[in-house]
Amino acid sequence: MSPVNSPSVVVEATNLSKIYNQTPVVNKLNLTIESGCFCGILGPNGAGKTTTLRMFIGHCPIDDGKLLILGQSMPDNASLVRESVGVVPQMDNLDPDFTVKENLYVYGRFFGLSTSVLKQRIDDLLDFSSLHDKADSKISELSGGMRRRLTLARALINKPKLLILDEPTTGLDPQARQAIWQKLRELKKQGLTLILTTHYMEEAERLCDRVIVMDHGKVMADAPPKQLISEQIESHVLEVHTADDSLLEQLKQDASIARFEKSGDIDFFYGNKLKYALDVLEQSTHDDYLFRPANLEDVFIKLTGRDLRE
Ligand SMILES: Nc1ncnc2c1ncn2[C@@H]1O[C@H](COP(=O)(O)OP(=O)(O)O)[C@@H](O)[C@H]1O
Ligand SMILES: [Mg+2]
Repeated sequence: MSPVNSPSVVVEATNLSKIYNQTPVVNKLNLTIESGCFCGILGPNGAGKTTTLRMFIGHCPIDDGKLLILGQSMPDNASLVRESVGVVPQMDNLDPDFTVKENLYVYGRFFGLSTSVLKQRIDDLLDFSSLHDKADSKISELSGGMRRRLTLARALINKPKLLILDEPTTGLDPQARQAIWQKLRELKKQGLTLILTTHYMEEAERLCDRVIVMDHGKVMADAPPKQLISEQIESHVLEVHTADDSLLEQLKQDASIARFEKSGDIDFFYGNKLKYALDVLEQSTHDDYLFRPANLEDVFIKLTGRDLRE
C-alpha cells in the first residue's frame, strides 16, 4: 500500500513564499500541477527554482502561504510525502564510499524496504539505467552521465508518484543528456508526474507538456512550450552582425519589425515576416546574418532580460 493516495492534483501552492535576508526569493508563488504532467521550470540562476523544489519536499521551511503535495499539507506531512516522492538534486550526493549497487541498497533501506524487495528493485533499476555492468563499481569510476543515471535510478527506488529533478542534465555531453531524456520519457509514459528544472531550452521544449518561466521568485509565464512561443513572442528573428550603421538604418525601415534589440555586437529584429529587411540583406553584399523561427530561448530572454546573473 502506498502511504498517500493518488490525487489528480499533485502540487498546489498558494502564495508560497520564502525569505532569505529580508529578500523574498520565492514570492507569493501560485502553482497547480496536475497528475501525469511533465512540468519544466526555467529561470536564470537565483530565480528561486531550487528553493521552491526544496519546499516541495520539506527540505526548507515555508515562510508564508500554503502548500499541498500529493494532497498532503506541507511541511506537517513531509515524511509521509517523501515516501512517495523521488528527488534528483542539483548537486550529486551519491556516497563515494559505496558501489553503485550499495548506493541503491542504502537509499532503499531509508524507506524501510526489505532486502528481498530491494534485490528485485535494484536489479530492475540497474536495467532501467543501463548500469548493470557497473553494479560493483565505485562512484569515482563512473562518468558524469552514469552518475546522473544512478541518481535517477536511486530516486525511483521507492516507486514515487512524483519525481523532482533539479538540473538533471547540467554538464552532460549530448549523448548522456539524450540517454537521460529517453529515461524520462519512459517514466512519463508510465504515468509519473515529473517536475524538472533546466537551463537547456531544447530539453524543456522536447520533454515538457508545460513550461513555467520563473524569475525573482515569481511565475513569469506558464503554458505548453509551443503556446509560450506563439503567445509570448513574434514568429521570427533576424540576427544581424554588422558595424555598418547605414545598413542597420535601412533594415529598421521594415514596417513588419515588431521589436528590436541590440545585444553586444548583434542586432536582433523580431517580427512575423521581415520580408523587406531580408530583401535589403539579399541585395547587399553583407552575409553575416541569421534568419530563424523564434524559440523558447527568445521567450526566456524576453521575460527575464539579457543581464548576467550570479
Ligand atoms: N540557504 C540559503 N540562505 C540564504 N540565501 C539562499 C539560500 N538558499 C538560496 N538562497 C538564495 O535564494 C535565491 C534563490 O536561490 P535558488 O533557489 O537556489 O535559485 P535557482 O535554483 O533558481 O538558481 C538566490 O539568491 C540564493 O542566493
Ligand atoms: Mg537551482
